[in-house]
Amino acid sequence: MNSIPTADSSSPASEAPSRRIDVAGERAQTTGSRNTRHFNAAGSALPSIDVVATVVEHLRREESMGGYEAAAEVRPRIEAVYDAAARLIGAESREIALLDSASTGLRVILDALRPREGARVIASRSTYVSHALHLMTLAREENVRLEIASVGADRRVDLEALERTLADGPPAIVTVAHLPTSSGLVEPVAEIGALVRAHGGFYVLDATQSVGHLDTDVAEIGCDVLVTTGRKFLRAPRGTGFAYIASDVLDRLLPTAPDVRASQWTAEGDWQVDGSARRFETWEAAIAGRLGLGVAIDQALGRGMPATEEWLSAAGRSLRAALDEVDGVTVTEPVDTASAIVTFVVDGVEAGEVVSELAARRVRLVSVPATHGQWDLGDRGIQAVVRASIHVYNDENDMAALVECVTDIARARRAGAA
Ligand SMILES: Cc1ncc(COP(=O)(O)O)c(C=O)c1O
Repeated sequence: MNSIPTADSSSPASEAPSRRIDVAGERAQTTGSRNTRHFNAAGSALPSIDVVATVVEHLRREESMGGYEAAAEVRPRIEAVYDAAARLIGAESREIALLDSASTGLRVILDALRPREGARVIASRSTYVSHALHLMTLAREENVRLEIASVGADRRVDLEALERTLADGPPAIVTVAHLPTSSGLVEPVAEIGALVRAHGGFYVLDATQSVGHLDTDVAEIGCDVLVTTGRKFLRAPRGTGFAYIASDVLDRLLPTAPDVRASQWTAEGDWQVDGSARRFETWEAAIAGRLGLGVAIDQALGRGMPATEEWLSAAGRSLRAALDEVDGVTVTEPVDTASAIVTFVVDGVEAGEVVSELAARRVRLVSVPATHGQWDLGDRGIQAVVRASIHVYNDENDMAALVECVTDIARARRAGAA
């Protein structure tokens, strides 16, 4: 197989960023990388030792003094999580809301836009299943006009078609997943941002699979809203996530169900909503998880997002190229796609069976069925793909083992069919 970019912490900073990811160091800081060959960062990545220690330490704090008292003690550290999240995506702290998942962010922010009869929503084919189900519910129950954006031969949003669609009607809410759950595809998010701005629309970016993976900057992209989750490429604990809401649209976005966390009940029939993005937060939250999220973001910033993106994209291309050479294996996105999500099918072997056979050899990945992406997999007539998603703790041995196992499965199938 083509060589995966390797680690060397002693590499001079002047070398290409791909040389500056210290894979051995990342592995030393990641207990799970010693037990398993984990290719499921797009599901839930392996957290670092420091992230886990931070969570456990806070649970012990709660055990010894009580949850509210423990939260008061770490309040300045929680404030720092907003600053870190803002720095990571080029935003301001007041534009960040800490949430429990990306789906919560997408739901509460879309509802805050109050799309009703006649409102237009244009969604990319890369849209995540739960968000698509919400959009279809709004279309069915509120008569919202839901349009699925056309794609080009590469399955990315067709920019010329989008421009024509935007020009042909009232301003629309445009919602796009930076990377989908069902392939390694990377949407042209900044170009979409420019088009939405030019036509006076509202741009919601689902960056669940990109934050921590690609160097993501809200000003460059020009989105009004970005949501992401903690547990995937950020390597934070489960049950964490955050949203960015641009300060110039905050006033337009009132929560449909204000929570005591960021709303004050000021009189018998009146209340005031917080002026920051925190208006979408809830009182109850896993403080331990949020502290862990802060550590994970700091580690991502310390590693450097441009270097991380370059390394992960090179690793994704390299893995695709290697799988593409295996007889009986079809890579289901272009081999040179610049991301660390790699999807493929093995002729005559169900995706779930490939996953089980790999798991028996301690190689962990998942299958993604069409029921998780009818607008993408369903549209392509693919029942399910096998998805391998790489992170900086995957070394050459992991990659070689994955390719070898898939080669064995494909060979066994050919032998069985002969
Ligand atoms: C593209 C995309 N968006 C949104 C989500 C939902 O994230 P969460 O489970 O944190 O709500 C996922 C989860 O896999 C995803 O892949």
